[in-house]
Amino acid sequence: MNILGIESSCDETAAAVVENGRLVKSNVIASSVEEHKIYGGVVPEIASRRHAEAISGVVRTALEQANCTLDDIDAVAVTFAPGLIGSLLVGVNFAKGLSVSSNKPLVPVHHLRSHVASNYISSDVEPPFLCLIVSGGHSHITAVNRYTHYKVIGKTRDDAAGEALDKAGRVMGLAYPGGISIDRISKNGDAGAYTFPHPKIDGAPYDFSFSGLKTAVINTIHNARQKSTEIKIPDLAASFQKSVVDCLLANLEKAAADFGYDKIVLAGGVSANSRLRSECAALCGRRKWKLYLPEPKYCGDNAAMVASQGYYEFLSGVRGGAELNAYATMPIDIVNF
Ligand code: KG4
Ligand code: ZN
Repeated sequence: MNILGIESSCDETAAAVVENGRLVKSNVIASSVEEHKIYGGVVPEIASRRHAEAISGVVRTALEQANCTLDDIDAVAVTFAPGLIGSLLVGVNFAKGLSVSSNKPLVPVHHLRSHVASNYISSDVEPPFLCLIVSGGHSHITAVNRYTHYKVIGKTRDDAAGEALDKAGRVMGLAYPGGISIDRISKNGDAGAYTFPHPKIDGAPYDFSFSGLKTAVINTIHNARQKSTEIKIPDLAASFQKSVVDCLLANLEKAAADFGYDKIVLAGGVSANSRLRSECAALCGRRKWKLYLPEPKYCGDNAAMVASQGYYEFLSGVRGGAELNAYATMPIDIVNF
């Protein structure tokens, strides 16, 4: 089966063709990130306008690069939630039009489920496994027991890991997205230079809280400015990154041990982080757990992961129709097949 995937949940307009959920035949991305950089974050109005301009060309190119026409496509999968509503609506409405005009089934795909599927196009991993999903908007520890059956074990109570990295990066004066800048600059920094709190939530051992950590970084910078003491940004970035990674992995380790998972999967934009990848590999090595990481090119938003998850949703009977809407928020486990 060839699935055409369409993604427009944030600032990437993407389309891809994937065969049987695993073989990527094309993967095309147009990003408006450069335009958002001067504002220090994604401007939703700009993002949706750029999606509207780019989407038909991106889809056409994805079909061409896969050596396909619409006749070779068996279903159209589209990200319908969660994300920026104006952005999502562009992809959803384009996919609906394509589905009706070409008489192909429409498959709505949850954005975080598609991030998990970035591993299906990077390796031969199959559920069941425990997945740490870390993106700009979400930080979840999720049991993936079947391709379309998810159980959230822990999640953030406030900021997502990527959001905390982006906000901290902005206060450090680094380019947006802060997560990428912090990863880069940390390579020249001492991760032991500063210590930050590791927030724990009573009665919720698998949940995260990153807003206190972010505030601690902001306070460190403000205090240094007030006292006119020097701050080494690479040291601060490396120390903050270490704290975020330590928090993520402490809860992941506890969840895997408590629930008996020996297969660990990372997903989401922050899974590109070099420290998270190496520390998680070290943890899994110590524990003798098998670790799967998405290829770096599939960590951020793309449509190959949407087409991959769309294949498995299609097999379990998920279909969208003319009434399909987009949703800014939607739990990953709301519908389990
Ligand atoms: O999954 P994603 O592309 O979009 C959302 O669904 O949110 O994730 C974007 C997030 C941003 O916060 C960005 O700073 C972060 O992923 N990110 C990274 C790295 N690459 C992207 N964070 C840390 N290290 C990286 N190498
Ligand atoms: Zn994403």
